[in-house]
Amino acid sequence: MRRKLIAGNWKMNKTPSEAVALIADLKDLVCNDEVDVCYCVPAIDIIPAVEAVKGTNVAIGAQNLYFEEKGAYTGEISAEMLCDAGVRYVIMGHSERRGYFGETDEDINKKLKKALEHGLIPIMCCGESLEQRQQGLTLSLIREQIRIGFDGVSAEQAKGVVIAYEPIWAIGTGVTATSEQAEEVCADIRKYIAELYDAETAEEIRILYGGSMNAGNAAELLAMADIDGGLIGGASLKKDFGSIVNYNK
Ligand code: 13P
Repeated sequence: MRRKLIAGNWKMNKTPSEAVALIADLKDLVCNDEVDVCYCVPAIDIIPAVEAVKGTNVAIGAQNLYFEEKGAYTGEISAEMLCDAGVRYVIMGHSERRGYFGETDEDINKKLKKALEHGLIPIMCCGESLEQRQQGLTLSLIREQIRIGFDGVSAEQAKGVVIAYEPIWAIGTGVTATSEQAEEVCADIRKYIAELYDAETAEEIRILYGGSMNAGNAAELLAMADIDGGLIGGASLKKDFGSIVNYNK
């Protein structure tokens, strides 16, 4: 049985002191023994955030990492640094990084392997633009993102990866994919993982939906057979996040 994961992606929001205050505000609202909870915070917030969640059910994630081990890569952060700071999860391939910072499927593949090598849990994002959806390219595009992203990753490693399906047209727009649209893609991702690996890996891997998930629509999305959680942007910065974590109460 897959455990649900409710992950907040804070994006470029909250200073270190604001992060500590938000974690304190949400502390009692995000308790739910049945789900895993994490906050993917800006890099500079990681150390105070790890300290602030000590003794709670919340884990801290990063929003990026660099795929080299160490060295002359000004401005980058390594997997080893994230681990040493107490990070558990790391997002890669978010459409904002693909779009604004030119991150490619090949970069994402290297990041995925580096994160796994260090025991971090990757949250690998994939998703289509509105234009690609209208052209009927959604499933083939996402299969391609996953094919390249998982190249050279073993079945045993793949079981521990989290995939987040985030349609670009639903991110920050207030337009959510319907639960049927989200399920169609998440089910196809699972089918493709079964083709790339095997049925057992497909059964174990967690697939999240992200894109304008909020307290009002979370329960319906999370009731779908192949949606194992959410990657939440805007609503993760508010008390609403507590209602999403407790979607089943
Ligand atoms: P919103 O929830 O703000 O639409 O953002 C989704 C997202 O990009 C999470 O990574």
